[in-house]
Amino acid sequence: MKTRTALEQDSEDIRNIYLSAFPESEREIVAKLAVNLLSEETGSPIISLLAEYDKKIVGHIAFSPVTINTDKDWKGYILAPLAVKPEYQNQRVGSELINHGIKELSEKGVNTLFVYGDPEYYSRFGFDTETATPYLAPYDLQYPSGWQALVLNEFNIETEPMKISCVDSLCKPDMW
Ligand SMILES: CC(C)(COP(=O)(O)OP(=O)(O)OC[C@H]1O[C@@H](n2cnc3c(N)ncnc32)[C@H](O)[C@@H]1OP(=O)(O)O)[C@@H](O)C(=O)NCCC(=O)NCCS
Repeated sequence: MKTRTALEQDSEDIRNIYLSAFPESEREIVAKLAVNLLSEETGSPIISLLAEYDKKIVGHIAFSPVTINTDKDWKGYILAPLAVKPEYQNQRVGSELINHGIKELSEKGVNTLFVYGDPEYYSRFGFDTETATPYLAPYDLQYPSGWQALVLNEFNIETEPMKISCVDSLCKPDMW
């Protein structure tokens, strides 16, 4: 499997991954998020990665920057969205995309990486709800136990709770 940066011309393939992997009630919203993140202009760059297998695009992941209201020097990112084509699931594609992103963000000096997803899956990579607790998600969460974080580089913040702000594509209440 090969991992490479996603480009705007990959939009249709990326959209199709999400349409095939997510349940009907969520697929359009998540596909739109993945495609919108390809072109959104942000201070710190969005990382959008594709997994290729035999030259076919089989998985996608994106990481976008988040900020907090209390400390400008702290660097945060959020993992969203992630999907692997159903016929390629359970073959470590998702794990490789997550680990690739974690390595890249750690090397960039990012302090904390967030995710809003299934703790059973994300706990494998070290995410937990306790680490996320001092950080308030941008909207009220439908599944508060899905709000998790992973420390990549330690940073001491004196004040809490801290309100998270995210990029425009993610700043929509129906995504939370
Ligand atoms: C979740 C997803 C990205 C995982 O990708 P993947 O390439 O299949 O995952 P991996 O092969 O790296 O890991 C597979 C392992 O994770 C487990 N797993 C997969 N989805 C899981 C979930 N939602 N909860 C708990 N465990 C899960 C599998 O049972 C498997 O376990 P094993 O290693 O003990 O056999 C993929 O299943 C997917 O696209 N699902 C639909 C979309 C989705 O839910 N995206 C995540 C949104 S938060």
